[in-house]
Amino acid sequence: MTHASDLVRVKDLSVSYSAAGQSVPAVKHATFSIGAGEVLGVLGESGSGKSTLALSLARMLPAKARYESGAITFRGRDLLQMSEKQLGAVRGAEIAIIWQDPALALNPVMRVGQQIAEVLRAHGSRDRHERVERVQGVLTEVGFQHPSEVASAYPHQLSGGQRQRVGIAQALCCRPSLVIADEPTSKLDSALQVEILALLAKLRALHNMAYLIISHDPAVFAGWADRMLVMYAGEIVEEGSREQVFGHPLHPYSQGLVRLSGAPAGTPRQLLPVITGEPPDLTRLPRGCAFEPRCPERMKVCAASPPASSTPEANRQVSCFKYE
Ligand SMILES: Nc1ncnc2c1ncn2[C@@H]1O[C@H](COP(=O)(O)OP(=O)(O)OP(=O)(O)O)[C@@H](O)[C@H]1O
Ligand code: SF4
Ligand SMILES: [Mg+2]
Repeated sequence: MTHASDLVRVKDLSVSYSAAGQSVPAVKHATFSIGAGEVLGVLGESGSGKSTLALSLARMLPAKARYESGAITFRGRDLLQMSEKQLGAVRGAEIAIIWQDPALALNPVMRVGQQIAEVLRAHGSRDRHERVERVQGVLTEVGFQHPSEVASAYPHQLSGGQRQRVGIAQALCCRPSLVIADEPTSKLDSALQVEILALLAKLRALHNMAYLIISHDPAVFAGWADRMLVMYAGEIVEEGSREQVFGHPLHPYSQGLVRLSGAPAGTPRQLLPVITGEPPDLTRLPRGCAFEPRCPERMKVCAASPPASSTPEANRQVSCFKYE
């Protein structure tokens, strides 16, 4: 769905990888938008195409990936037509990424303050004193009480939670209008997860940034995502507000994911509700609905051809024959 105030518009985006002589369709015909200041969550099992979708928006796909079709506009500009130079000005400044593993994202032999200052310098901050002040300011904003000590530390001298805060400071230092966070807390223990998510929500409220936040864990979206996309086998199978998708999921796959997340904490693994079967092999998808082999509600029609996207209620979309 698209609206007049959209910051990002993605239309019919398809991306594939070439692997072992085969083409792997990782994202198929994705159409969605992100409004200014909006938090859009992307939920799906491993391999459903979440990271590929995120990397496409930042034009950071690996060399063996290919844009097969579609358009991405960011603030009205065609992202797929931008030169590397134009992209360099947008990436890091207007579109920023918070990585899953801050240890990999940070340079191990550079002090963290210097790393944040480098981002500021690359995006136009000419004055060294101004950069030092801005580094201290942004480190304070992400919760450090002694920002100068942190600024002079190397990544290995910080804990995992502290490194993720530094990663967030680095991503947010240029005040981007879109922040892409791909599993930003999945490497952290559950107490730290809660802290980091609260920090992201606070910073969003403070600076009115839009987020594309990705996770396989529904708990990550609780309380702050505005809208949700649910992905299966590279397709967006359901879209709606967070309340709609978690309160009243329509697609049988979303229903399975939500049932899983609703199990009380500490439920033994063998008692957890499951979505039976395995995520599909993307190179050998069924002719009909990709979820058909695992779907508890499959009908005869589901195996014959894929369902189209329908709009069963306002601001809501689902791809399933139950709603056609
Ligand atoms: N560099 C790559 N080369 C070849 N295939 C890839 C590559 N990266 C991803 N894929 C394939 O594309 C599909 C989508 O992968 P993607 O990483 O986008 O999924 P994901 O939803 O982010 O999964 P996860 O939850 O495990 O991070 C998968 O089938 C994956 O094997
Ligand atoms: S289209 Fe059919 S198989 Fe696919 S999710 Fe809907 S009911 Fe299940
Ligand atoms: Mg991923």
